[in-house]
Amino acid sequence: MKIIVVKDSAAGGKEAFNVFKEALKKGAKVFGLATGSTPETTYAQIVSSDLDFSDCTSINLDEYVGLAGDDPQSYRYFMNKHLFNHKPFKASYLPDGLAVDEVKELARYDQLIEENPIDLQLLGIGQNGHIGFNEPGSDFTGKTQKIRLTNSTIEANARFFENEDQVPKYAYSMGIGSIMQAKQILLEAYGQTKAQIIEKMVNGPVTPDVPASILQTHPNVVVIIDEAAASLLNLK
Ligand code: PGA
Repeated sequence: MKIIVVKDSAAGGKEAFNVFKEALKKGAKVFGLATGSTPETTYAQIVSSDLDFSDCTSINLDEYVGLAGDDPQSYRYFMNKHLFNHKPFKASYLPDGLAVDEVKELARYDQLIEENPIDLQLLGIGQNGHIGFNEPGSDFTGKTQKIRLTNSTIEANARFFENEDQVPKYAYSMGIGSIMQAKQILLEAYGQTKAQIIEKMVNGPVTPDVPASILQTHPNVVVIIDEAAASLLNLK
């Protein structure tokens, strides 16, 4: 795990942008993407650059069950707004929050991932250690699943909604097994609220209780964190 500590999320976005740029230069064609406040500075850097993704495919980690792609709270909407409307990809996939047949939707997404092996996967991390929406206890070899969000995730995400009751209770999420298949993984985390979980992810035992701890076993992981998120690490 290569750990890069930056001053703040703006600086982190620049570092993350460089990882994208390098991957593209080396021929990466499939990018696994993430939502949440964490990747916003990265997407802003990409949008203001001349990088060209028109020959690339993106596959997002997750989507809320029950939300249409044009719902401002959906992750499809977030991605359009922050990235795709400005920097189009050849194809951009997210789970379909309105899929009528859930089982088929999970299979469809797994097939997409299989047909488009991910070169670079971008991740945030939840305060409980989730990656994608793979909450504590998730299977390290799991594929795409419908996940019941934990109360702590619902509370953490309520800031994007008018109130907590409006936060969907379920999401479709790429599984940890699929995330671990990515050739390279880039995880970003900013702020004091992430310090404890970053310490566990880096130094703690590899355990499903801390889903992100599995990244210790991946051969090519870059972690970009600000000083606040790094504050409990003993870095020289
Ligand atoms: P955040 O969410 O970027 O909004 O902090 C990260 C996550 O829950 O994975």
